[in-house]
Amino acid sequence: MRIYCTEDYEAMSRKAAAIMAAQVLAKPDSLLGLATGSTPVGLYRDLAAGCAAGDLDFSQVRTVNLDEYAGLDGTHDQSYRYFMNKNLFDHINIDKANTNVPDGKAADPEAECRRYEALVARLGPIDIQLLGLGRNGHIGFNEPADVFVGPTHVVELTQSTIDANARFFASADEVPKRALTMGVGTIMGAKKILLVVSGADKAQAVKAAFAGPIDPHVPASILQLHPDVVLVGDKAALAALMEVRA
Ligand code: F6R
Repeated sequence: MRIYCTEDYEAMSRKAAAIMAAQVLAKPDSLLGLATGSTPVGLYRDLAAGCAAGDLDFSQVRTVNLDEYAGLDGTHDQSYRYFMNKNLFDHINIDKANTNVPDGKAADPEAECRRYEALVARLGPIDIQLLGLGRNGHIGFNEPADVFVGPTHVVELTQSTIDANARFFASADEVPKRALTMGVGTIMGAKKILLVVSGADKAQAVKAAFAGPIDPHVPASILQLHPDVVLVGDKAALAALMEVRA
C-alpha cells in the first residue's frame, strides 16, 4: 500500500485529484469508480478545474458510483446521483449517458442490485475505485457485519451512519434507512483503489482498517488484501495509523 500524508484537506484533495487525473491521462476511456460524501468534494472541484483549464478530457470516460439511497430518485437533492451531477458531472465534459449510479427508485431493489453488478462486470474492470471511509470503518455502504458481502446488494444502514448523514437532511427521521451498494467483492475487483480520508474523526477507523485484523466488523480492513491501494489522507486522519507504523 502506498500512503500519502498531507498537511490538510486541501492538499489531500490536490494529491487525490492528481492520481485520478493521471489515470484519465494514461487511459482516456477509463472506467472510474466514484464515491460521494464530503471527503471527495475538493478532489472533484480540482478535477473540474483541470477540465476547465483544458488539461483533462472526460469525453470518453465512463463512471460507476458506489452506492445510492433506496427510495430517492436522482432529482432529490440528497440523492447520490444529484450529488455527482452537482459536484462533478455538470462541470466536466463527460457524456452523462456514460455515468452510472444505482437506481434508488427501482421498484425491485434486489433486481436493481443484480442489474448493477452485471453492468459493472460488463463495463469493467474498474480502473480506479475512489473510496471514502466511514467512522465505523464502512466502505460504500458496506456496514460492519458478521460477514463480508461480495456483490452489489441492499443494506440496512446502521444508526451511526444514519446519524452521520443526518446533517444533510432536515432531521434524522428523513434519512433513508436502506441503500444499494457495491459489495466488497465489486470494490475489490477494481484494478486500483484510491482511499481518501480527512480529519481526526477518521483516525481510529483508518488505524483499525490498516493496522488491525481483517474483520467484517471493520469493512475497510478487506483492503489489506488488495494489491494496489493508495491511501491519501491528511495528517489528522492518518495520525493513529502513523503512530503504529512508526
Ligand atoms: C459514499 C460512500 C461512503 C462515504 C463515507 C465517508 O459514496 O459510499 O462510504 O465515503 O461515509 O463519508 P464522508 O466523506 O462524508 O466522511
